[in-house]
Amino acid sequence: MMVGGRDREMRKRGVVLLLVCWAALCAGDTPGNCMYDDIRGTWTFYETERSGDNTINCDTLGPIVHTKTFTLSFPNNVMDELNNEGTWTMVWNQGFEVNINERSYYAFSYYEGNMLISTSYCDRTMNGWSRDNTVRNWSCFFGNKTTPVAPRPTSRVTVVESQLQQHYNNDHNMIHNINTMQTSWTAKAYPQHEKYTVQEMLNRGGGVGSMLTSPPTPAPATPEQKARVSLLPDNFDWRNISGQNYVTPVRDQGGCGSCFAFASMAQVESGIRIATKNQRSDVFSPQDIVSCSVLAQGCLGGFNYLTGGRYAQDQGLVAEECNIYTGQGDPCNTDSSCGRTYVSDYEYLGGYYGACNEELMLQSLVEDGPMAVAYMVFDDFHNYEGGIYHYTGVKNEFNPLEMVNHGVLIVGYGVEPTTGEKFWTVKNSWSDTWGEDGYFRIRRGTNECSIESMALKVTAIP
Ligand SMILES: *[C@@H]1O[C@H](CO)[C@@H](O)[C@H](O)[C@H]1NC(C)=O
Ligand SMILES: *[C@@H]1O[C@H](CO)[C@@H](O)[C@H](O)[C@H]1NC(C)=O
Ligand SMILES: *[C@@H]1O[C@H](CO)[C@@H](O)[C@H](O)[C@H]1NC(C)=O
Repeated sequence: MMVGGRDREMRKRGVVLLLVCWAALCAGDTPGNCMYDDIRGTWTFYETERSGDNTINCDTLGPIVHTKTFTLSFPNNVMDELNNEGTWTMVWNQGFEVNINERSYYAFSYYEGNMLISTSYCDRTMNGWSRDNTVRNWSCFFGNKTTPVAPRPTSRVTVVESQLQQHYNNDHNMIHNINTMQTSWTAKAYPQHEKYTVQEMLNRGGGVGSMLTSPPTPAPATPEQKARVSLLPDNFDWRNISGQNYVTPVRDQGGCGSCFAFASMAQVESGIRIATKNQRSDVFSPQDIVSCSVLAQGCLGGFNYLTGGRYAQDQGLVAEECNIYTGQGDPCNTDSSCGRTYVSDYEYLGGYYGACNEELMLQSLVEDGPMAVAYMVFDDFHNYEGGIYHYTGVKNEFNPLEMVNHGVLIVGYGVEPTTGEKFWTVKNSWSDTWGEDGYFRIRRGTNECSIESMALKVTAIP
């Protein structure tokens, strides 16, 4: 099902960019780059008639019939002109969601330009989508902030294009350096990576546009959070709970920047397994997200929150067979006769982006199931072989890989018995021949590569 025109527009824009030879740098999310303090404040939302359904196309707006004033304040409170209260959250640097008066609003922040050079106008939104909590009464809207925010220019020209088109080569010197400077994890060359260009390797890690220089640091743990965590087991893994495996098989995203779709599908897949005690073991279609969701940018990137959360609630997910993975930004071609699986709730752990911490993640992992997260992928990570990863600072001399943001699924945690090092166990989407059978472990408790900054909780409806 085609849910709107924005994705078409985004993909067309991607294609245009490709033609204008920026090819290589187009991967990522939207070029928008807005910060919490840009968005916080008072907004006017201009909203169309609430007569649409979830196929609504908000590329162009009908007549405005509702004008709402929402004041967004710290940390996640929103109040309307009648003093009704609700909640709001940033979604990374891309946009924000407001939940109030039994309605939910989401829009991307306004920007002009492209992935390489853009200007964000953080006091305006693109046209967004609004619907009531029954997910039936839809409208379109846009928001203007009442106080102006200075335009924010963003430049991502840091890698020359000719390098991006080159084939990725394993940097044996880097691998040697990683393996001699520390013993926590080992690196190796992956011959299969050499089939990719440098650009595609970047896409596998999240894409250039997903760079964010200062993600929020974890929220301090409260005494209650610490007390609850002290009751949890030292080691935990959803792949083996009394011999039962609640995690679906590892997949391979190829050279498409679709990690977020794999991570968020995997979260709902585990949620369904847990809720049905493994009576259902669905594998959902990341291609449906890549090709059909207006809340993501296809192979150019997207966010767990908007796909495993909002899209799964608004549109529902289909089985892999209904739109088989191609790893390309193809037009939407999902079999419309397929049934859909929904989530009833979704939230950033702690209730908003910025509230996450290790304690909340431990508790939610055990109580709610595997969780999609995002973290920074540095040069050295691609060559991870096994052990407990931390960023070594070792650079790849051949391939100018950038720090990018990658979506993955945490399935467990533990403590290394000999060193006492704490870790998360994480499902990647780089095939089961990568890392520890497709998984990796990463240092826990220190927000390594920002992995403790944006965990997602969803409630799947079997
Ligand atoms: C939803 O929209 C329809 C069509 O506009 C309307 O008849 C109905 O009353 C609305 N329901 C709610 C709960 O707003
Ligand atoms: C919203 O802001 C934009 C940009 O400043 C402006 O062009 C537009 O007229 C505003 N819309 C309304 C309804 O005030
Ligand atoms: C699951 O865990 C149990 C207890 O630790 C262990 O005996 C068993 O071998 C594990 N099963 C698998 C498939 O790893």
